[in-house]
Amino acid sequence: MKKTYHDLNEEQREAVFHNNGPALILAGAGSGKTRVVTYRIMRLIEEMKVDPFSILAVTFTNKAAQSMKERVAELSGRGKVKDIFIGTFHALCLQILKIHSPKLGYQTGFTIYDDSDQQALIKECLWGFEMG
Ligand SMILES: Nc1ncnc2c1ncn2[C@@H]1O[C@H](COP(=O)(O)OP(=O)(O)O)[C@@H](O)[C@H]1O
Ligand SMILES: [Mg+2]
Repeated sequence: MKKTYHDLNEEQREAVFHNNGPALILAGAGSGKTRVVTYRIMRLIEEMKVDPFSILAVTFTNKAAQSMKERVAELSGRGKVKDIFIGTFHALCLQILKIHSPKLGYQTGFTIYDDSDQQALIKECLWGFEMG
């Protein structure tokens, strides 16, 4: 079923149709904030003809990013959602590094180690050292 702006309450509609400058939405859990963001994205693409590549949606968690992707796909279609960056702050920074690291003289094929990766590597080095 095609979603329409009738699925929004008055405050949500106001936020979705806000055009110029930033809009801060402050509301409780489960009150419909993600609905506002996803409908705004749909409106930007379908009505305002914004290139999906120019839309950036940053979330706190991977789970929130995944759910936002699914909800945007439901509204605007899978083809469009793949061109929108929807992810965490960490994923965004990683993407920037992957694309632009050659400008700093680094290669793009790098891996980021988390705490347990780092410990495992140090242990492996120490073990090699002990064995001579
Ligand atoms: N205007 C609305 N009418 C009916 N259901 C709504 C409306 N706004 C949000 N919902 C539903 O309420 C639930 C919570 O909305 P969501 O956008 O995820 O809230 P939040 O991001 O603030 O936690 C979802 O199931 C959503 O589809
Ligand atoms: Mg939400």
